[in-house]
Amino acid sequence: MEKFVINGGKPLIGEVTIGGAKNAAVAILPATILAAGPCIIENLPNISDVAASIRILYEMGASVKTIDKTTIEIDTTHIHVTSVSNEMSRQMRASYYFLGALLARFGKASVAMPGGCNLGPRPIDQHLKAFAALGANIDVEYGMINISSDALVGEHIFFDTISVGATINAMLGAVYAEGVTILENVAKEPHIVDVANFLNTMGADIRGAGTDVIKIRGVQSLSGCTYSIVPDQIEAGTYMVAAAMTGGNVLIKNVIPKHLEPITSKLERAGATVKEYDDAVRVYRTGPLEPLNIKTMPHPGFPTDMQALMGAMLRLAKGTSIITEGIWENRFRYVDELVRMGANIQVDGRVAVIEGVCELSPAPVRAPDLRAGAALVVAALATKGESEVEEIGHIERGYEDIVEKLRGLGADIKRVGCPGSSAQQAI
Ligand code: EPU
Repeated sequence: MEKFVINGGKPLIGEVTIGGAKNAAVAILPATILAAGPCIIENLPNISDVAASIRILYEMGASVKTIDKTTIEIDTTHIHVTSVSNEMSRQMRASYYFLGALLARFGKASVAMPGGCNLGPRPIDQHLKAFAALGANIDVEYGMINISSDALVGEHIFFDTISVGATINAMLGAVYAEGVTILENVAKEPHIVDVANFLNTMGADIRGAGTDVIKIRGVQSLSGCTYSIVPDQIEAGTYMVAAAMTGGNVLIKNVIPKHLEPITSKLERAGATVKEYDDAVRVYRTGPLEPLNIKTMPHPGFPTDMQALMGAMLRLAKGTSIITEGIWENRFRYVDELVRMGANIQVDGRVAVIEGVCELSPAPVRAPDLRAGAALVVAALATKGESEVEEIGHIERGYEDIVEKLRGLGADIKRVGCPGSSAQQAI
């Protein structure tokens, strides 16, 4: 069994470079199916969810060339398979993007129900609503979602709930649809804008990404292109919290400070200093940590993917903090693990009440999901003594080179178990 062994209690000091955004990469890779010709994708994070997406494309018949550690060339011209198996689909949530991309190019797709972190119910009714509105027939049978259409036609679609996945899937499904598609009540995260920018670079006509309404005028064809993925704001936020929590001083490079504003504003209220540069932020803290009230919301609200990290930090604050989870039903599974380390946190449904404590004890803990796992790593870094974090496969789904990056900041962390990350193995 692989785990991280962490000897914590030291401030993190130094510089770290952030990789490309996971949640953009896992949509942009399936979107290459829409291109007639090779796509060169730069700033691709070296994580296992990306490796799984590439593996799916490869198994469909795409040719994949690694150019360097963060750049690949994908040519989907000759793909001949329009389904994603149960085994591959269950490895990650984002396998649902193959539905939109395959439907748009081939008029049909079969993808098994997606996997991913267990955050409570994760319906995809809004994705299917969008495909149906564009004219697709949908049938779910024995865990497979089968969709098909003779011709997709643009429509006015109002989403009942704000969904990152449904917004992106609807954009993918609509790029070739005849006429104009209008999507209302859409998600506005930076990765929505990034996927739209990628599609537009290939020749799509998508306007309004980043606002509540997206307008897509169907085009006849898309060509290959070279595209660099936007930096990952959640990876950046993770190192920002790690710097603040350990009382360190870290320059976080290759970021877009504007994307970090919801995180920056909370960290400043908690007593950290955040200095913004063109494409970097420096985070440090010298005074005590102050308690906070946080409610997670769709962008530009505070991101749910940072919730566990803030929870881990606030157990060290001077007073009572309250976190309300506004997106997922079950995103407090890290709390039991933090309690093993001496935290005082009560959860009632979607609300956690965190009483700050000054003394924490190291402990063996388990990563219940990706961001919770990252929160436990950072919690262990801020706790004097040796902690172990198990089930690190969850963490490697979304954090590239986390051991190397933390060691570069002076952390005492090692990976114990088989050599080589799951990301590298999967590629
Ligand atoms: N929802 C529906 N119906 C749908 C889709 C969503 O009711 O058809 C609900 C969900 O149950 C949830 C809310 O809408 O309550 C938001 O879900 P959304 O569709 O936005 O989530 P997602 O697309 O499945 C992405 C990220 C998650 C991130 C959420 C919210 C990817 C691959 N995943 O998930 O990232 O938490 O958006 O920002 O992009 C992570 O990176 O750790 C992660 C879980």
